[in-house]
Amino acid sequence: MSEAIAAPRPTPIPRAASVLKWAAIAWFAVATAGQMAFVYFIAVFYLPPTLQGQFEAWNRRDLITGYVPGDHAGNLQFAAHVLLGGLITAAGIVQFIPQIRTYAPALHRWTGRLYIVTAFLTAAGGLWLVWGRGTYLTLFGAVSVSILAGLILLSAAMTLRHAMARRIALHRRWALRLFLVVSGVWFQRVGYMAWIILNQGPVGIGPRMDGPFDIVWGFGIFVLPLATLELYFLARDRGGPMAKSVMAGVLVLLTGVMAVGIAGTVLLMWRPFL
Ligand code: HEM
Repeated sequence: MSEAIAAPRPTPIPRAASVLKWAAIAWFAVATAGQMAFVYFIAVFYLPPTLQGQFEAWNRRDLITGYVPGDHAGNLQFAAHVLLGGLITAAGIVQFIPQIRTYAPALHRWTGRLYIVTAFLTAAGGLWLVWGRGTYLTLFGAVSVSILAGLILLSAAMTLRHAMARRIALHRRWALRLFLVVSGVWFQRVGYMAWIILNQGPVGIGPRMDGPFDIVWGFGIFVLPLATLELYFLARDRGGPMAKSVMAGVLVLLTGVMAVGIAGTVLLMWRPFL
C-alpha cells in the first residue's frame, strides 16, 4: 500500500469554524487600525508639548481637568497617564500580532512584561486622577471608570500569574480580557462617535455627560467587550455550526459599528487638533 494512501488526511476546518475565525480576525484588524490612530493622536497632540514642559497646550482640547497652573502633582500625573496610555496602546498592538508571538517569542515576552507593568501604572494613575485630583463629571462616570481600572488590575494580575505558572491556555484567555479592558477608554470614544453618527445626533447624551446613554455606555465600555469575548469562547470551543455562524454574524455587525465609530473618532474628535 502506498504511503499516500496510508497517511491520514489533515482534517479540514469545518466551514462555520473558519467563518468565525475570519470574523474574529477582521474584528482585530479593524480594532488595530483604530488603536494605531489613537497612538498617533497621543504621539502628535500630547507627546511633543509634554516633553517640552508646555503643559498648557493640553487645554486646547476640552478636558475635564487638564493643565492647572500651580497643581504640579496633578499636572505631572496627567502627563504620565497620557504618555503611558500611548505606550500601552502601542504595546497592545505588538502583543497581539500572532506572527510576532510565533517568530519572535523573546520580543513577545518583553512587550508582555512592559504591557502588564504599564497596565498597572495606567490604571492606578487613572484612579488617582479620578479620586485624588477629582477629575470626574458625574459619580456614575467616576464609579464606572474605577470598575474598569479594577478589571485592568485583576486581568493584569491573572495574565501574569498564568504565564508564570505556564498555564498557556488560561494565560491567553486572560491576556485577551486584559486587552479588552485596557482598550475600554478607546471603546468609550469609539462608542460615543458610532452612537452619535448612527443616531445623527447626541441622543441621550447629557450636557455634563449625565444622560441615559452616558450612564449606560460608562458600564458598556467593559460589559459589552467582555460579554462578547465570553460568548466567542463558548461558540468557538463548544458551539455547533449554528452557534458559530451566529457569533460570526454578531462579530461582523460589531466590526461594522466599530468602523463607523473609528471613522468618526479620527475625523471629528482627533483630526481637528492635529
Ligand atoms: C489603560 C488604558 C488607558 C488609556 C490608554 C488612557 C488614555 C488616556 C488619554 C489619552 C487621556 C487624555 C484625554 C484625551 O485626550 O482624550 C486620558 C485622560 C484621563 N484618564 Fe485615562 N487612560 C486609560 C485608563 C484610565 C483609567 C482606568 C482611568 C480611571 C480610573 C483613567 C482616567 C483618566 C482621567 C481622569 C483622565 C483626565 C480626563 C480629563 O481631564 O478630561 N484612565 N487617559
